[in-house]
Amino acid sequence: MDINVTHGATLKQATPCLLIGVVANQLATPLLKKIDKALDGTLTRAVTAQEFSGNAQQTLLLHGSRQLVAERILLIGLGKERDITLETLRRAGAAAVDQLRQRRLTDFTWIPADSPLHSLPIEAMASAWVEGLLLADYRFERYRSADPKRAPSLKQLNVVTDRKGNLPAINAAVQRAEKLCRGVLLARDLVNEPGNVKSPVFLAEQAQTIAAEAGLQCTVLDRPALEQEGFGALLGVAQGSIREPRLIVLHYKGAGEERPVALVGKGVVFDSGGISLKPGENMGQMKMDMAGGATVLGTLLAAALLKLPVNLTGIIPAVENLPSGSAIRPGDILTSLAGSTIEVLNTDAEGRLILADALTYAKRFNPREVIDVATLTGACIIALGHHAAAVLGNHNGLLRQLQRAGEASGERCWQLPLWDEYADQIKSEVADLKNIGGRPAGTITAAAFLQHFAKDFRWAHLDIAGTAWQEKGSDYRPAGGTGFGVRLLIEHLHRNLA
Ligand code: BES
Ligand code: MN
Ligand code: ZN
Repeated sequence: MDINVTHGATLKQATPCLLIGVVANQLATPLLKKIDKALDGTLTRAVTAQEFSGNAQQTLLLHGSRQLVAERILLIGLGKERDITLETLRRAGAAAVDQLRQRRLTDFTWIPADSPLHSLPIEAMASAWVEGLLLADYRFERYRSADPKRAPSLKQLNVVTDRKGNLPAINAAVQRAEKLCRGVLLARDLVNEPGNVKSPVFLAEQAQTIAAEAGLQCTVLDRPALEQEGFGALLGVAQGSIREPRLIVLHYKGAGEERPVALVGKGVVFDSGGISLKPGENMGQMKMDMAGGATVLGTLLAAALLKLPVNLTGIIPAVENLPSGSAIRPGDILTSLAGSTIEVLNTDAEGRLILADALTYAKRFNPREVIDVATLTGACIIALGHHAAAVLGNHNGLLRQLQRAGEASGERCWQLPLWDEYADQIKSEVADLKNIGGRPAGTITAAAFLQHFAKDFRWAHLDIAGTAWQEKGSDYRPAGGTGFGVRLLIEHLHRNLA
């Protein structure tokens, strides 16, 4: 979608559709009064007939008239003023996309709010709308033949304000949303890509392409390099697949010589469970098990486009978890990069193994803080469902910052405890650790395992097993990969570290 911001008379816009957000029971704004007048009272009649009041998610489509050059007016209800949040506006953008697509309209004009709503500045509001529009219009259609019956994507958005003074804020908002969403859509594309296409090598090539475009530095460790360094846990997971593992390392420099924030993302391109094979039902979804890695790549891309004044190091351990004659077996003992030994009692608990080595490697960059992102445990879906990620770690200040950034970005996370007692569940009789902690508190014992490798820095772990993938689409998250975490991490970096 091409977005163009201009200053002009809002009601003189020749457009297939004029899009306006409406606060509940505030239908007497100057703009709406003018529209109603030009339409000979049609809006008033719709309101009187209780067809539209501006309640959240309500929409009303009116056709133009001779006095109104716009062919249609699309009103999106926002709900009561004091209840409106940025998330309301993202969803309003998504509701608009739904209406436009249903009518096969691809060009439209949107009139952003010209004054702040309670605590919300116009720039933040405009950015949230555009996020909703861009994210809702996304479809993964690389492998589908063209079909004229499917709704076309949106092509052209004209953003028009009649207040010249608002132009800089609205321009900035549109640009911010476009850059941010590029990171999100990259992550979605990578998650949606099927397992036969996305090998660890493919992920590394994607990372290199993005790095070249965005001015990131990218280095990739191949199998001999990983063997040389001693990535025993990562290599143990990788040994069941004929596709070679890679460790992808990216650097974004936006703050000179400052210590970087390290972002570590689980990159299991397909998780069959290995010898501890998963049940067949829904196994195809496990192509999404590199979503954490996709989030890290998307976040680095967005940070670079946004020119965030921080330094970032992205680390993505990329492997495939398959059963074969060369695969690790339950009972095997691996020696991790940190030197600790791990008894692998379930080969399906592979994420923590590759993350253990990646977290150990992160220490080399002397990070200010380390955040790992991973589709780590099915137990996380049991605990929080699909509406929030779990966040755990060793620094309460950081955990609180992430929770607040989650609230602001609409990508929520909720803290689970990581008390010492849980670590008892992953003690082994024959090695330093075992890779499963039994049924109770599966998300926490997975984090307790990671904590063992994250002792030397501030660390937070985001378990995105429930949020990285949408079975059915909703609001601005179409079915498939959600790109969850990019907006959350960018919000965190922006408000707490930049
Ligand atoms: N990738 C899975 C976790 C997962 C499950 C992500 C469902 C998204 C949706 C992970 O590697 C895994 O298999 N975890 C096991 C751990 C268990 C063996 C301790 C799980 O959650 O069942
Ligand atoms: Mn697994
Ligand atoms: Zn996994």
